[in-house]
Amino acid sequence: MTQKELESTARALVEDGRGILAADESFNTIKKRFDGVGVTSTEETRRAYRGLLFTTPRVEEYLSGVILYDETIRQKSDDGTPFPELLARKSILPGIKVDTGAKDMAGFPGEKVTEGLDGLRDRFAEYRKLGARFAKWRGVITIGDGIPTDTCIQANAHALARYASLAQEAGITPIVEPEVLINGDHDIDRCDKATTATLKAVFSELIAHRVHLEGLLLKPNMVIPGKECPNQVSYGAVAEATVRCLRRVVPAAVPGIVFLSGGQSPEAATEHLNEMNKLGPHPWALGFSYARALQDPTLKAWKGEASNVDQAQQIFHNRAKCTSAARYGKYSKDMELAA
Ligand code: 13P
Repeated sequence: MTQKELESTARALVEDGRGILAADESFNTIKKRFDGVGVTSTEETRRAYRGLLFTTPRVEEYLSGVILYDETIRQKSDDGTPFPELLARKSILPGIKVDTGAKDMAGFPGEKVTEGLDGLRDRFAEYRKLGARFAKWRGVITIGDGIPTDTCIQANAHALARYASLAQEAGITPIVEPEVLINGDHDIDRCDKATTATLKAVFSELIAHRVHLEGLLLKPNMVIPGKECPNQVSYGAVAEATVRCLRRVVPAAVPGIVFLSGGQSPEAATEHLNEMNKLGPHPWALGFSYARALQDPTLKAWKGEASNVDQAQQIFHNRAKCTSAARYGKYSKDMELAA
């Protein structure tokens, strides 16, 4: 596998205004999402729901890739087509989440470190056979009293770099996801400081581990006040703070930055991306790798009923269309009404 192939996958994921759907919720997370709409999480309901997303007519105009979960990459659509093959036929690249979750970090109350490095080389080999072309690993950084600590940031950055180098060895383009959580009452400046410190550590480790920067994508949080912060700011202020932070710490060699939505509403996540792209041109493509901001309205419309599939797919298609328009700074609220 050459570096050129890693690069071309990275570029393909951010080309033509398209972006990534994260559909890689773990069993616990998908259960939480299903509970919210009164659907029992079983292997079959999870398959039916992911199938609804992936078979949405013409969604490939807006989606370049989908991140799958270990169960999902092995599942099939109603007509028996394996999901990775179904996606590839629509020119959507199949990806895979390979971390095994953020766990409490021993000795560091309130902080987490992500697990999953053991045996990862063999798992990458299997995922590649199953059709995965790119991968994701998420590190979690929490803002609170006296945290994040440098030790937690460093531990997560180190794991992200070890993961990214194994991914590239397997010919799989890594998405490197350090998420500074939106939970809490911290202001935008604290988020800025935590995000800056995290990204500095992440790139320092990636370089130390000889990771090929042109052959990866960064998936960060936006620089945004905590959910419970009394001083919320405008879409433009989030966009400016995020772009300033990224310009200071993300090398121009990185082809694309694909944000997570992190608990923002679909509209806010779309507005923020739109405002950031209006501030361009930037050294990297600025795109999306959203789970909730693409899926929430769809899930609410579906509610586990086959008779709701058409409407849920129309809503999903429109959400993807709005988010894709934001990649050009061309999103407007009337596009929402079209749904
Ligand atoms: P959200 O967009 O819901 O934050 O999810 C993105 C993701 O993949 C988290 O790892």
